[in-house]
Amino acid sequence: MSKLFLDALNGKKTDRPPFWLMRQAGRYLPEYREVRKNAKNFLNFCYTPDLAVEVTLQPLRRYGMDAAILFSDILVIPDGLGQSVEFREGEGPVLEPIRSLAGIESLDKNRLLDHLSPVFETLGRLSKEIPAETALIGFAGAPWTVAVYMVEGRGGTDCGTARSWAYRQPEEFQALIDLLVESTAAYLIEQIAHGAEAIQLFDSWSGVLSESQFHRWVVEPNKAIVRRVKEKYPAVPVIGFPRQAGLMYETFIRETGVDAVSLDSNVPLEEAKALQKICTVQGNLDNQALVAGGAALETETIRILEALGEGPFVFNLGHGILPHTPPEHVAWLADAIKGSAAGSS
Ligand code: CP3
Repeated sequence: MSKLFLDALNGKKTDRPPFWLMRQAGRYLPEYREVRKNAKNFLNFCYTPDLAVEVTLQPLRRYGMDAAILFSDILVIPDGLGQSVEFREGEGPVLEPIRSLAGIESLDKNRLLDHLSPVFETLGRLSKEIPAETALIGFAGAPWTVAVYMVEGRGGTDCGTARSWAYRQPEEFQALIDLLVESTAAYLIEQIAHGAEAIQLFDSWSGVLSESQFHRWVVEPNKAIVRRVKEKYPAVPVIGFPRQAGLMYETFIRETGVDAVSLDSNVPLEEAKALQKICTVQGNLDNQALVAGGAALETETIRILEALGEGPFVFNLGHGILPHTPPEHVAWLADAIKGSAAGSS
């Protein structure tokens, strides 16, 4: 059976755009909060296939998205390499920062795939449990974004420690990026072996870099991962997400070889339409419009569908769904997209 989401990623125009939402499993759903209540340690939650399968399926039951995304986190890679990673309530992730070559050398890539084996089990079970028309997305953080967390030790910074290290000691920083390229490619290849049908690489912090640094720490590592994954699985589409790359989006698409690009909400729809000529685009509803609902949500949704709906296009947000998003707004959005088949009014 052909899957709408995979058709769009393969560059086909579809009768209506497929959709899924970044962070579609999460705290805005009461049934997620219920499961989370009994799973205090977030990483253990990610590593418990029974729970990870359940919360991956929750948004599909309500809204029938065209794709399920594996429930996990981008920080399972540093955790799997042996860095201390903790998720604190109200604070987000806290890591023991790595700021020297010795710190990089203390990481152990040989334990990674074993450590992450519960994630592969989750994927194997999901590929049997999701509806036949739904695609299964695997994912990882891209090296720059994961390195930012590893070096800064937390989110919410201007990435200054990482950016400064990358300028002062580029060979040292390169060693960290190389380790992440190798680890991430191996991790994604294993995800595909266990049932992932498409891959998204999240480069959430790519927007803080200058042109030369963007090229070295975003374009080159994403390109190296795409090449390794495609060597093994040439038919599996890869979505790049160099968030807030602005004028660098086009270079990113042309140089990395991704099949699709996820656009943040800042990208003008005219520009998104131009990018659609070179690859499938995904995005880019403002997550605050989804919180607001009503006329604001309707206007923004229609603008996007009118500009990009002919395809190849995947409807999504510009960044993850916010925890205080009313579930009924998501229901409205799902209906609007499903009712937007070409020719219907
Ligand atoms: O999209 C999905 O539904 C799949 C699961 C998923 C999660 N995180 C679950 C999660 C995915 C794809 C991610 C990616 C991720 N994680 C990114 C890249 C995308 C982006 O948002 O830029 C980043 C930067 C992270 C790191 C991370 N994880 C942070 C900064 C936080 C804390 C902030 C927050 O929202 O709490 C997390 C925690 C996290 N990851 C939660 C979920 C559902 C919330 C944890 C909870 O239940 O308390």
